[in-house]
Amino acid sequence: MITTIGVVGAGTMGGGIAQAFAQAGFAVRLVDVAEPLLDRARRGMEKSLDTFVNKGKVAAADRDAALGRLTTATALDALVEADYIVEAIVENVEAKRALFTSLDALAKPEIILASNTSSISITLLGAATKRPDRVLGMHFMNPVPLMTLVEMIRGQATSDESMRIGSELCRRLGKTPVEAADFPGFIANRILMPMINEAIYAVMEGVGTPEAIDTVMKLGMNHPMGPLTLADFIGLDVCLAILEVLHDGFGDPKYRACPLLRRMVAAGQLGRKSGQGFYTY
Ligand SMILES: NC(=O)c1ccc[n+]([C@@H]2O[C@H](COP(=O)([O-])OP(=O)(O)OC[C@H]3O[C@@H](n4cnc5c(N)ncnc54)[C@H](O)[C@@H]3O)[C@@H](O)[C@H]2O)c1
Repeated sequence: MITTIGVVGAGTMGGGIAQAFAQAGFAVRLVDVAEPLLDRARRGMEKSLDTFVNKGKVAAADRDAALGRLTTATALDALVEADYIVEAIVENVEAKRALFTSLDALAKPEIILASNTSSISITLLGAATKRPDRVLGMHFMNPVPLMTLVEMIRGQATSDESMRIGSELCRRLGKTPVEAADFPGFIANRILMPMINEAIYAVMEGVGTPEAIDTVMKLGMNHPMGPLTLADFIGLDVCLAILEVLHDGFGDPKYRACPLLRRMVAAGQLGRKSGQGFYTY
């Protein structure tokens, strides 16, 4: 029975994933490398839950109960009792593989290790462990407490049973699992990132301002948010990392990251989280 969830990485996604599980009644152990990052995640969760309470979507008592189910730690040892672990650290294959090897050594042998990776091969992460049948992708969307899709990625060795357990957990969170095969970018980012990249080329070539491009896609295509607003929201460094995985994985120049995106990331213009991207925050 799954009652305690481990989440590694307390950034944009890890904090949201921890919140979703805590709201659904699970005990959550959230791990990151330093205390200030964990404090920031807890504050983010408090703020998000307060908004839900103010809108009448969550009762004050349920907010307090959810916050009470969250514990934080800077050492992975906190996860030895976890019944299911979701990794949400930086989108870097070496960092993730090293973490999966460590998690495999300390977590209960029967439990599933899930990755929230946007694009990295689940098969590769599974191969860093001795339990590749119990490694899968659980790709939540940002912001996690609001978005109901979870892309469930089956690695080459992932068992049917692991996919069933992971999908059932999504439903317990009130979310809809959709299965994707282990190809670079899976379904969501294989389709989304080339569109964002093209929008950035359009800015670089002076086809339109960011405002013009976003407005065309919002009013003309009925997208709720323009691609450049979305890129700022996702994080331009994250977008670049995903495009590199697509480019390396398919070897097709159509996935080559726009030079303007590279330049902005090099300058520390990472979008919303840095205060500057295609827009100023
Ligand atoms: N940002 C998005 O919109 C989005 C959407 C879906 C999936 N993802 C994926 O989720 C993952 C996390 O993305 P994010 O946007 O939350 O990144 P982020 O940079 O906001 O957070 C990453 C966190 O991981 C921590 N971390 C790094 N190495 C660690 C380690 N070894 N042990 C413990 N903690 C460690 C960092 O300190 C940081 O707090 C990535 O794989 C990303 O591709 C992101």
